Amino acid sequence: MWEMLSNMKVTAIVLAAGKGSRMKSDIPKQFMELEDKPIIYYSLKAFEESCVDSVVVVTIPEMIQYIEKDIVEKYSIKKVDGVIRGSVARYLSVYEGLLAIKDSDYVLVHDSARPFVSVEMINSIVEAVKEKKAVIPGVPVKDTIKQINELGYVDNTPDRNMLVAVQTPQAFVYDRYVKAYEKIDMSQVDDTITDDSCVWERFVGKPVFVIKGEETNIKITTPEDFKIVKTLINKGF
Ligand code: CTP
Ligand code: MG
Repeated sequence: MWEMLSNMKVTAIVLAAGKGSRMKSDIPKQFMELEDKPIIYYSLKAFEESCVDSVVVVTIPEMIQYIEKDIVEKYSIKKVDGVIRGSVARYLSVYEGLLAIKDSDYVLVHDSARPFVSVEMINSIVEAVKEKKAVIPGVPVKDTIKQINELGYVDNTPDRNMLVAVQTPQAFVYDRYVKAYEKIDMSQVDDTITDDSCVWERFVGKPVFVIKGEETNIKITTPEDFKIVKTLINKGF
């Protein structure tokens, strides 16, 4: 049994096809530099050191060669076995990644805009998905969250104890996840699919398990996020 589990193949899709419109920078945020290396490098390095077998990077066409030469080759990252073009929405970029995977038992999906993901986080997700089939990392919500209406008034206040903020990598049984994707109506972009487990929740209908995420696994989204991260790094955090 143990041997069977350890033979299972795990592939990660690292997403880097976004434009970073909220960051308002000249280049997409995943290519901005932190400590002289592009943000995406840190996720690729974490996957390289994890138990994941291979990695597919999904990006914009103009950056394919840059990733291949100036990141994968330059830093001797061995597990990346494809750098492919993404699409107009995050979940559609994920689909491109899923279609590029030849054979895999499990798939992880990760935002390259989360450079601080740890090797331990990745390994925990992989262990958990073997038992739970669909697993996502979440952290307790610290702010009170309000549901509001179109006029800006509060509709209700959900019980904070029952809320988590979810992160990536999110992990799934590959075959079932692809079948779920095949059920999406692809005739228009669905902007309600904001994370990967949405697709599993809707089209597999089986439970999604939440494991403990990491407070440090933040997504760099705005210029303020970037400034805070740079300041903390300079202060030695
Ligand atoms: N992403 C992607 N393909 C898209 C959109 C997003 O691969 N069509 C990736 C981004 O590169 C990022 C991750 O998904 O690493 C999380 O998305 P987000 O933080 O929203 O990044 P962007 O979409 O690039 O930023 P914004 O929404 O501000 O434009
Ligand atoms: Mg986005």
